[in-house]
Amino acid sequence: MRVLAIETSCDETSVAVVEDGYRVLSNITRSQVTHSKFGGVVPEIASREHTRYILPVTLAALEQAQISLNDIDGISATYGPGLIGALLVGLVFGKTLAQVLSKPFLGVNHLEGHLFSVFLHAPEVLTPILFLLVSGGHTELIWMEDLFQYRILGSTLDDACGEAFDKGAKLLGLPYPGGPAIDRLAQKGDPQFHQFPRARVPGLNFSFSGIKTALLYFLRDRSESWVQQHLSDIAASYQEALLDMLLHKLRQAIEAVEARRVAIVGGVSRNTRLRKRLQEEFTDVEILMPPLTYCTDNAAMIGAAALAHFQAGHTSPLTLGADPSASLSSL
Ligand SMILES: Nc1ncnc2c1ncn2[C@@H]1O[C@H](COP(=O)(O)OP(=O)(O)OP(=O)(O)O)[C@@H](O)[C@H]1O
Ligand SMILES: [Mg+2]
Repeated sequence: MRVLAIETSCDETSVAVVEDGYRVLSNITRSQVTHSKFGGVVPEIASREHTRYILPVTLAALEQAQISLNDIDGISATYGPGLIGALLVGLVFGKTLAQVLSKPFLGVNHLEGHLFSVFLHAPEVLTPILFLLVSGGHTELIWMEDLFQYRILGSTLDDACGEAFDKGAKLLGLPYPGGPAIDRLAQKGDPQFHQFPRARVPGLNFSFSGIKTALLYFLRDRSESWVQQHLSDIAASYQEALLDMLLHKLRQAIEAVEARRVAIVGGVSRNTRLRKRLQEEFTDVEILMPPLTYCTDNAAMIGAAALAHFQAGHTSPLTLGADPSASLSSL
């Protein structure tokens, strides 16, 4: 089976062709750089950019896969969560294609897409598996007991970890998106230079709003030139506090469900130091991480989730609407 997948939930216009065995025949992603001058994604601009690029990106994905629309067996698009206007562009485009071509359609939950990113180019889905989903909008520990069976063990009570990277970077005067900027700078810094507070929250939940305020006060109390002189050390220390909080809860979750296999997905899973610490500190479990291109938003991961659903006989009605706050639910 061969699936055309469309992802437009935020500021990436992405189209992919994925076939059996979660093999990616093409994955074309156009990131909207225009938002960087505003320091964050502007929803109306995102929708307009998707409208402009959805067709050329689709044609490029078909060309890269060296197939025509007739060779596609099913069409899928993200229906949520995300920005409503952005979601609608990809969803309406996908449903229209399915209608015109008389092909089955499937709406994919963006979070389920992130989870399936780890199965791309893998022969089969291995369960049970504990997921740490760390992205720009989510920080969740998810126990996937079986295919399409999800138990949310914990999630952030306020900001997402990716958001803490982005907002921290803004305070440090670094460009948007802040995650990659902090990652790069921190590689030259001392993670023990300053101890930012690690939030203590009950259960397997997270909190990332306090550390942001701690960074704000830390910078306010010091001169501009001192901060510039120690920028890489500050970035490394801030990043280390974020990672400590993530890994502390990940360890607790592993123990709670006695997980043997753990996957880290979402944009923050690109982080160099996070990847290194996982390899060094979690040698007792099998650690899975998607290749870097499938960590941040992409249509290949949407295609992987769609493929699994199509193969299980699931389809969505063409009346399916966009749901900006869709949550991950089991089937
Ligand atoms: N190397 C990195 N280190 C840390 N964070 C990173 C890195 N690369 C990307 N990020 C962060 O990942 C986030 C983007 O990830 P992703 O595209 O998965 O999120 P999103 O789609 O915006 O959110 P969601 O999937 O929750 O709706 C941003 O916050 C970005 O700063
Ligand atoms: Mg995402």
